[in-house]
Amino acid sequence: MSALDLAVIGGSGLYSFPGLENTARHTLHTPYGPASGDVVQGDFAGMRVAFLARHGEGHNLPPHRVNYRANLWALHQLGARRVIGVNAVGGIRHDMGPQAIVVPDQLIDYTHGRYTSYCDAEGAEVKHIDFSEPYTASLRQQLLAAAHTAGIAVIDGGCYGATQGPRLETRAEIARMKRDGCDLVGMTGMPEAALARELSLDYACLALVANFAAGCGDEAEISIEEIFAHLAAATAQVPRLLAALPK
Ligand code: HPA
Repeated sequence: MSALDLAVIGGSGLYSFPGLENTARHTLHTPYGPASGDVVQGDFAGMRVAFLARHGEGHNLPPHRVNYRANLWALHQLGARRVIGVNAVGGIRHDMGPQAIVVPDQLIDYTHGRYTSYCDAEGAEVKHIDFSEPYTASLRQQLLAAAHTAGIAVIDGGCYGATQGPRLETRAEIARMKRDGCDLVGMTGMPEAALARELSLDYACLALVANFAAGCGDEAEISIEEIFAHLAAATAQVPRLLAALPK
């Protein structure tokens, strides 16, 4: 049996896991350097859960400086087999407005200059993972079923466009992403999903919509205060949703 039932990577607005009990902190050293912070392991809803704040517990790491390789390696080392990435996003599709919760099924990567693979170390085996379906289908279904059980509305499917950040996008960039087929935009979805696949982890994304992406809503400008207010409302639903996952 795996030591862990679930690992959760918290994004903006989720820096600790409410309801996690009997916790122990692990400072893990990985061949790729330090993770974003300690992994906090504990009991939640009958599961052994590990939680890691992607941006650090004090939100000190911008998306392009997150050590995605170390984070997933650390969770894998602790025995994680199932990982949920919680990501703040902007909504591009009209029905993906602030506070919507989406379980995307596709992604497009617009990031650059990040370490995107474990196979660039000297002598490492070169792996070409299949990434046709970037999220683990069975884990997506578990999330959707859990949301249904918990009575939380979620949108099934959508394409996540991963941008470099930390700035928000221009209206022209979002218009291009829309033409490309993106429904959501966020800064942290990649390379996390691909690294999880390289480690053979089950991985799915729970995307919390904080704002309409540039040019998609009525506002001329996107306010950070508004982003965090909407995120807080969506984030409040996450523990109840995850509690309904199968053990
Ligand atoms: N763009 C990129 N990432 C985001 C956004 C956005 O509009 N909102 C929250 N994360």
